[in-house]
Amino acid sequence: MSHTTHASTPEYILGTDAAELWRLGFQHRLWSAAAHEAWAKARIAPGQSILDVGCGPGYATFDLAHIAGPAGRVVGVDESVPFISHLNSSAESRPAPTVRAYVGDVQQIADVLARNAGTGEASPLGSFDMAYARWVLCFVKDPEAVVRDVTKLLKPGGRFVVQDYFDYERMTLAPKRAPFSKIIDAVARSWRARGGNPDLVGALPGMMSRAGLTVTHLDSHNRMARPGSTIWNWPTTFWQSFVPRLVQMNEITQSDADAFFACWAEVSADPNAFMLLPPVFDVIGQRGA
Ligand SMILES: C[S@@+](CC[C@H](N)C(=O)[O-])C[C@H]1O[C@@H](n2cnc3c(N)ncnc32)[C@H](O)[C@@H]1O
Repeated sequence: MSHTTHASTPEYILGTDAAELWRLGFQHRLWSAAAHEAWAKARIAPGQSILDVGCGPGYATFDLAHIAGPAGRVVGVDESVPFISHLNSSAESRPAPTVRAYVGDVQQIADVLARNAGTGEASPLGSFDMAYARWVLCFVKDPEAVVRDVTKLLKPGGRFVVQDYFDYERMTLAPKRAPFSKIIDAVARSWRARGGNPDLVGALPGMMSRAGLTVTHLDSHNRMARPGSTIWNWPTTFWQSFVPRLVQMNEITQSDADAFFACWAEVSADPNAFMLLPPVFDVIGQRGA
């Protein structure tokens, strides 16, 4: 893919550079309350064994480890070598000896864990109380394979918590502006063209049922932002990272990007503007006992 910077390793569409490392941390701060609420619904508790699917640099992973505590363990898997190196080196300098992260494709996550299982360690199949995947399934070509594998990795009664998008293109600026709408269309188009799905959650309950999970919770977060608020900077940081990539991918022209940034600067200075953020859904599936 044209955006890949590490020739030998795959890289997700938003990149894995220092700017993205920081952006994911900021994004986690903005969404950590929602993550903790979803984990509570999935009955997270000290001593549990938890899998972070597509863990990125580990912002949620360490929160999970703080809850799982010294008697628990948290395992992360992500395809990005720089993110996993960052996570594992952070783990060394924190009181979180229970965190381990591995490089691998989450579409074959059971194999990734089996390959990395230490000598004498029990099979990873059926060993996790909870698995978590936030903003990962919308980027993979075969999310059904992920759901199938994760289900096999859960203990009977174990829970798979997913936070992801449906109807991403509902993201709207108010009042509506053409340069903004053009960029949203291009973002969604670019994900679809590379095998992702900005409507992933629409298909997720079906995937869970087919894999043997019962959907116990289905909720949505419909948030909005006003200029000057902290959450207004969530889309701002996304545009800074992704709009130049859209130009590189030939999804938009440089003049579309220029028009968009001029529009964004204008609305960011307008106290009467607001925007609807993309709807994020919580889906929790429980493995049959
Ligand atoms: C938007 S980030 C989310 C990271 C983390 N879950 C969080 O919420 O902070 C998407 C992550 O999915 C990872 N990813 C995408 N496709 C993947 C795949 N097929 N296998 C493993 N990781 C993948 C990327 O490397 C990236 O770290």
